[in-house]
Amino acid sequence: MSEGPPRTHTPEPMTGAAAALLERFAPDEYLREGTYAATRLPVDRATTLLPEAYRSPTYHALEQRRVFAGGWVGVGFTEQVDAPGDVLVGHVAGRSVLVTRGRDGALRAFHNVCRHRAAELVREDCNLRRFRCPYHSWTYSLEGRLLGAPLFEGSDIPRDQRAVFDTSHVAGFDPDEMGLLPIHVDSWAHLVFVDLDGGAPPLATWLGDLPERLAGYRLDETRVHGRRPYAIAANWKLIAENFMEYYHLPWVHPELAKVSRVDDHHRWQGPGMYTGMCTTPVTQDEDSGWTALRPVPGLDGDDAVSGRFVHVFPNVSLSVLPNHVFTMLLTPTGAGSTHEQTALALHPEAGDGSDVAAAVAKLLRFWDHVNREDIEIVERVQRGIANEAYTGGRMCYRFEEPLHRFQNMVIDRMVGVDRIPGRHERDGTALFTAAGHTRSADAGHTTADARSAAGPTTGGRATEVSA
Ligand code: FES
Ligand SMILES: [Fe+2]
Repeated sequence: MSEGPPRTHTPEPMTGAAAALLERFAPDEYLREGTYAATRLPVDRATTLLPEAYRSPTYHALEQRRVFAGGWVGVGFTEQVDAPGDVLVGHVAGRSVLVTRGRDGALRAFHNVCRHRAAELVREDCNLRRFRCPYHSWTYSLEGRLLGAPLFEGSDIPRDQRAVFDTSHVAGFDPDEMGLLPIHVDSWAHLVFVDLDGGAPPLATWLGDLPERLAGYRLDETRVHGRRPYAIAANWKLIAENFMEYYHLPWVHPELAKVSRVDDHHRWQGPGMYTGMCTTPVTQDEDSGWTALRPVPGLDGDDAVSGRFVHVFPNVSLSVLPNHVFTMLLTPTGAGSTHEQTALALHPEAGDGSDVAAAVAKLLRFWDHVNREDIEIVERVQRGIANEAYTGGRMCYRFEEPLHRFQNMVIDRMVGVDRIPGRHERDGTALFTAAGHTRSADAGHTTADARSAAGPTTGGRATEVSA
């Protein structure tokens, strides 16, 4: 008699054609408001985002276009583009992008593609005087201007052969029209963001009141001390959602839960494309290294005794403590896979010399341990969500309102509603307001009202949702 498969056997989540069989929706249904009616309900009655959003290659492809190419996305750290000529190579919506610091100090971003026959220009982070294509040597300035094709100052072509390559006689060839393709770029705190399609409101509008909320932590002065990559077999949203709830703390992080009590957490959200929670008082755990560094100078009030856990939509998670910041940057690599980059950032006055090195090493071990616990559980969720018997779950209101806020932001981008969540003013009510508009005092619309008002695209209409 067969004993069946070994108990430890854990097949990979289904991808590609196999996963597509499980789809209950035609591709265009993913872009329609009605498909998400159960998640649009108030959080205490809402169902989680449809499982296809986490396992369907079709959904993933649409989401890359709508979510990752259609708004501000974290692409790296300011430290990677600190000096003139520094180049950061990032990946957004499946496309390779370059961010660079010019000699004038300005930050610029371009598609990582040559205007001649599309060769990828740069493979990895570096420092350059100019971009030079490896294929036929077309060369661009750090400002993206085509300098030569391929003749330019510093060209390797021997003087006696230069005439052969001279393209100056090519009819209708205007170098000014052949510069690198630009992308909107901006920075906040220790992070660089790009807006691929260029249609998002300014980054400051996107972030809402977050810079002001976190002003005391002086994040723009922090320095990154350790970056670490993780390959995770889970959809990026599962990782983000796991970050934004503390419900799982006692079971997934038993050691952490001893010092970071569930009861000490509460939501911490205002207008802006982010979710937030807070723990007060913050954990005083000497073993983890949390207390070995000095707090940011001038930090006072609640900031001095709190941990702020903020997820900037769509892909940046920040754990902001009085004396350090742990950052997670998510890059989806498939419906069921994500590249995660983590980094520890410290204020320059956090400590000196070998003391800092020891504290950083300890903190990195601590965060790596917590992160691996989270990765293990989100990969289990990914395996579970591949099961077509599961059609969505209910949210636990007390703990999962930030998830509801996040999932509604995903839906907004998918269906083309241009809207930024509003202030969380009353327990049980998350208010949404349109980009660039101030929310009026009473937000009395029901979800159904908002749905009919929203239509396929609102382009900044002042629509409010009581979600
Ligand atoms: S593809 Fe870049 S120079 Fe030809
Ligand atoms: Fe966790």
